[in-house]
Amino acid sequence: MAVPPLTLLGIETSCDETAAAVIRGHPDGTREILSDLVLSQFDAHRPYGGVVPEIAARAHILSLDKLIAAAVQQAGCGWEGLEGVAATAGPGLIGGVMVGLVTGKAIAAARGIPLVGVNHLEGHALSARLVQQVAFPYLLLLVSGGHCQLLEVRGVGDYVRLGGSLDDAAGEAFDKTAKLLGLGFPGGPAVEQAARSGNPTRFALPRPMLGRAGCDFSFSGLKTAVRHMVAGMPPMQDQDRADMAASFQSAVADVLVDRCRHAMAIFRRNHTLTEGYHMVVAGGVAANQMLRGAIHTLCVQQDFILVTPPPRLCTDNAAMIGWAGIERLALGLSDPLDISARARWPLDSSFRSAVN
Ligand code: KG4
Ligand code: ZN
Repeated sequence: MAVPPLTLLGIETSCDETAAAVIRGHPDGTREILSDLVLSQFDAHRPYGGVVPEIAARAHILSLDKLIAAAVQQAGCGWEGLEGVAATAGPGLIGGVMVGLVTGKAIAAARGIPLVGVNHLEGHALSARLVQQVAFPYLLLLVSGGHCQLLEVRGVGDYVRLGGSLDDAAGEAFDKTAKLLGLGFPGGPAVEQAARSGNPTRFALPRPMLGRAGCDFSFSGLKTAVRHMVAGMPPMQDQDRADMAASFQSAVADVLVDRCRHAMAIFRRNHTLTEGYHMVVAGGVAANQMLRGAIHTLCVQQDFILVTPPPRLCTDNAAMIGWAGIERLALGLSDPLDISARARWPLDSSFRSAVN
């Protein structure tokens, strides 16, 4: 992809990570991550076992300015070297989104440079193109704490949803399972760690939606099944926890693989691609090595080329927001300084369906 040489500041504050990064895109399509700083608020939220919106917003306010200054300094480009600012404008916890967006607006106004209000989900969706030159269209499994969707990525701002979760997101199910097992916060990495020494066949957990037509997901029944099993057991030992974590993770993998297989068939029907079919997996849950392995096996079977950003670009970060900003600016897309922060903002705002 040809982009003009552009150096952008990215800002991410939609959940519990305060992040700032400086990204540079070159005309030959190469890109550089000049700096990429993420400050996790895990310690602030841990006593509550989940993210507390008010605490998150305050923590962003306390650290964002310093983090941005450090990102600009580390990038070595100076404030005068920035040609634009990309800040997450939603969806997310509204207080946090406002902190980042208002800061982005202030920098854009002070420096006289364009502002891009980035959809956080578009940040995840395009993150694969930050690390590899994946051409449009591609199939995307977006699995994070707030979302679980299968989408066709047809271009920047052009998304067609094939399916999504009818209830909880996959990351939410990981977090709730971790809480039930007393594994701590954040849940996903804790479940993955415990599962390493566990037996994935010990507990027969349900695989919701497996084998159903279409590409929708459901995870609340799986979470409830874990709760019932845990409640019916004597006090759990470490091995019980590990076995439950492994059984849970294996159920999630089976469901994701089944839904992706359906989506691949639909995507192939919708597009004739001579250069190969790409499957991108992004979002925090895509950091999970076991799930990556399961989807890799599926891709080999279905002749899809798997692209997964490295784990640190799967969980929330500002590099992906800066990159989405570069993709948009390269197309002449920027936003006015009165753009609003949005708690909800579906990626496929046109709600086009490619299933039928
Ligand atoms: O993309 P992300 O950082 O934030 C949202 O946009 O939601 O995703 C966070 C989610 C959390 O639910 C977290 O538990 C999950 O991603 N997660 C993982 C792993 N690392 C993060 N889930 C499973 N395995 C992991 N290694
Ligand atoms: Zn995210």
